[in-house]
Amino acid sequence: MMRILVLISGSGSNLQAILDHCASGKIAGEVVGVISNKADAYGLVRAKEAGVATSILAQQQFASREEYDAALLALMADYQPDLVVLAGFMRILSGDLVRHFAGRMINIHPSLLPKYQGLHTHQRAIDDGEREHGASVHFVTEELDGGPVILQARVPIFEGDTADEVAARVQAQEHSIYPLVVRWFCEGRLQMVDGAVQLDGTLLDPAGYACE
Ligand code: GAR
Repeated sequence: MMRILVLISGSGSNLQAILDHCASGKIAGEVVGVISNKADAYGLVRAKEAGVATSILAQQQFASREEYDAALLALMADYQPDLVVLAGFMRILSGDLVRHFAGRMINIHPSLLPKYQGLHTHQRAIDDGEREHGASVHFVTEELDGGPVILQARVPIFEGDTADEVAARVQAQEHSIYPLVVRWFCEGRLQMVDGAVQLDGTLLDPAGYACE
């Protein structure tokens, strides 16, 4: 069984989707720990309800980003993860930490990368008059929201949509694509090779699996 470590900052709905898929046997892995940088993240409640160990590492305890990331790396290593899943973890990670977990750390971002890296993606897409939006699962590299894309899901943006409505539509898709990618990884089907994604030994399109 692959050992999965999940990092969160908030609600943890993607964490929940992954926990559910592990519980039903669809993912050949076990969530061995959840780390949050926020003590009040609801995802911590979800983890405890699933009987998963949790840790809180609050930034206030540390004088600098370097010290925080060194402590985070040590804490993560304690869980001996095969796969690190960033699920709404709202901190930028240092190069050392990213390099340590290269090819073993994935993230979900609420946009059709490379479009709309960073924050407020839904509102920015609406403001630009986009007709579609979505979510991307990608390997984490030192470039923020810039690692190679594994899988994307697209949703429409309708006339008059609010950012919350678009976010809800995107999140519903996140809850199916993120567990699927975790499943592929745990089955040994997914690799990052020379900064690109391979699924079943085949190099994927830069926009991810089955993207037209
Ligand atoms: C998700 O929508 C994810 O795409 C986003 O945070 C949300 C977390 O929701 N991540 C980012 O914005 C990372 N740049 P959740 O806590 O309910 O899973």
